[in-house]
Amino acid sequence: RPMSISIKTAEDIAGMRVACRLASEVLDAIAPHIQPGITTRRIDEIAAACMQEQGTISATIGYQPPGYPPYPASLCTSVNHVVCHGIPNDKPLKKGDIVNVDVTVITPEGWYGDNSRMYLIGECSIAAKRLSAITFEAMWHGILQVKPGAHLGDIGHTIQKFAEGQGFSVVREFCGHGIGKRFHEEPQVLHYGRPGTLEKLEPGMVFTIEPMINAGRRDIKEFGNDGWTIVTKDHSLSAQWEHTILVTPTGYEVMTLSAGSPALPDFVTATST
Ligand code: MF3
Ligand code: CO
Ligand code: CO
Repeated sequence: RPMSISIKTAEDIAGMRVACRLASEVLDAIAPHIQPGITTRRIDEIAAACMQEQGTISATIGYQPPGYPPYPASLCTSVNHVVCHGIPNDKPLKKGDIVNVDVTVITPEGWYGDNSRMYLIGECSIAAKRLSAITFEAMWHGILQVKPGAHLGDIGHTIQKFAEGQGFSVVREFCGHGIGKRFHEEPQVLHYGRPGTLEKLEPGMVFTIEPMINAGRRDIKEFGNDGWTIVTKDHSLSAQWEHTILVTPTGYEVMTLSAGSPALPDFVTATST
């Protein structure tokens, strides 16, 4: 194993469980507010207040990887053809929009929990609903690959095969990531690839699976000059879901679950019970 992929201890895992549950509870808290007419800035404010109540802080506000300006908000809101890293603004959401909200919190002990969900604004087109649902299933197909001895390439391959089989495309430029006391650690978790390739999984590894799936072509571009917002080049719709996952001795544990998490797909419950 490359020394760079950390193996979490039982104590580390206990800290990660708290961070991940709280990250998921922020998504629960904003859910009832995500209605036609709300602005993404208001969603950001509600989430910031929730984090303050929790005693967590946002990992995104002020986040500045090399070559980027500091990220200015407590979460990311990526609407319609925005692929990821959308910055909250004053434009009201309208019926038929789809929005990804991506929340990462840091607990007082320093652990990070990272997750995102799609929200449908009012009645949406069949195409938009299908893209969100298929992306959710794609994430879960990836999660089901996670167990000791499996390879990272198995996760990417499964997601790619499923998404492309539905006529959609997989964004290549962004990937899942190891996470712990830092936001982005090794390994990179690609959402495409070949079975049996890349790192072998071991109990105690923790990483995100967060496929970005486009209705049209996979190509993306930067939007405007904010230094963050990524959109589809062909302006087709894009969807994303994200969970933080622990490799357990027998398989996986989805760490970012809470009371408001959506029901698991039927193919998951069928294999695990
Ligand atoms: N939460 C995102 C991820 O899943 C990263 C957002 S970085 C930000 O990795 F600065 F854009 F917020
Ligand atoms: Co992430
Ligand atoms: Co995230």
